[in-house]
Amino acid sequence: MQIPDGRQMIDYILQDKLLRNDLQILKRKEKNFHLKKIKRKKLMATGLDGWCLSGFGEKSFEPKGVRRQMMKYSSLCSSYDYGNAEYWNTRYLEEAGASFDWYQRYSALRPFVRKFVPSSSRILMVGCGNALMSEDMVNDGYVDIMNIDISSVVIDILIKSRAHIPQLKCILLSNDMQMDVRNMSFFLDETFDSVIDKGTLDSLMCGTDDPFSASQMIYEVNRLLKPGGIFMLITYGDPSVRIHHLNQPGCCWKITLYIIPRPDFKSAVGGSSLRSVMEPVPLTENGLLPPEYVLEDPESHYIYFCKKMEG
Ligand SMILES: C[S@@+](CC[C@H](N)C(=O)[O-])C[C@H]1O[C@@H](n2cnc3c(N)ncnc32)[C@H](O)[C@@H]1O
Repeated sequence: MQIPDGRQMIDYILQDKLLRNDLQILKRKEKNFHLKKIKRKKLMATGLDGWCLSGFGEKSFEPKGVRRQMMKYSSLCSSYDYGNAEYWNTRYLEEAGASFDWYQRYSALRPFVRKFVPSSSRILMVGCGNALMSEDMVNDGYVDIMNIDISSVVIDILIKSRAHIPQLKCILLSNDMQMDVRNMSFFLDETFDSVIDKGTLDSLMCGTDDPFSASQMIYEVNRLLKPGGIFMLITYGDPSVRIHHLNQPGCCWKITLYIIPRPDFKSAVGGSSLRSVMEPVPLTENGLLPPEYVLEDPESHYIYFCKKMEG
């Protein structure tokens, strides 16, 4: 494992502040979208459904072409449009190649990854961003990690900066055609043993057509996995907002859930946690957390291991 030097440490601390801000916005946007969905249903019921529900979630019902034009010319970065390639391109340009891992570093995820993902696996890292996760995994013995992202800027940075690591692969299609998790037709069915997502499904949940995007992504992940393959999803979304996306028609998963506190969370019981994070959390028949389950950290992260079963 590489220990970050002083300069990197400062970057992490600064970026951690940025992340807190991002997370607040991500969660607010997803919540806001669900509120709007309810509001829209009510409007439709009263026959008052209009063209545009403007505001935080950037939801609108303009025809797609018009919407795309608008997105192209509006100030994207300031709108925190996490589902949009131009937002991420702008952001990665501003960050000038600095590495940053959302939610958790590999060191915290390692016990889970090692348990479910053999080091000889062919792995697809979806929405890799500028995280160190893939590189850390290579340093830990993983031999084949394909990294894709909708941002051509970040893939360009990766290609230049990680050229000396043959175990890491990237695909840059062209500057105006990126690798989108909603359509990964570039890869054949059943190409990968494992797919890892840390924060990308969450980003899609804030974009245009979010439930549809989420469904397209899960469909594609399922298609690319070999039977018995593992989809590792690291997200802020608890089972009530994630399980129904995973269990969509055409997908058959055996899901194992773990819940881990944020890296800087201090337990109320003085450092020692009430339960081991390595204990899987059982789900109810409806795919929810058991009613008696108490989250130590209300802002915990959820790790879903989804094993692809024969349909
Ligand atoms: C929250 S960041 C997470 C980055 C990285 N996985 C990590 O753990 O730090 C989300 C990433 O998803 C990428 N992304 C967003 N929408 C995407 C899409 N439709 N297809 C591929 N990547 C996408 C963004 O460019 C960004 O790098």
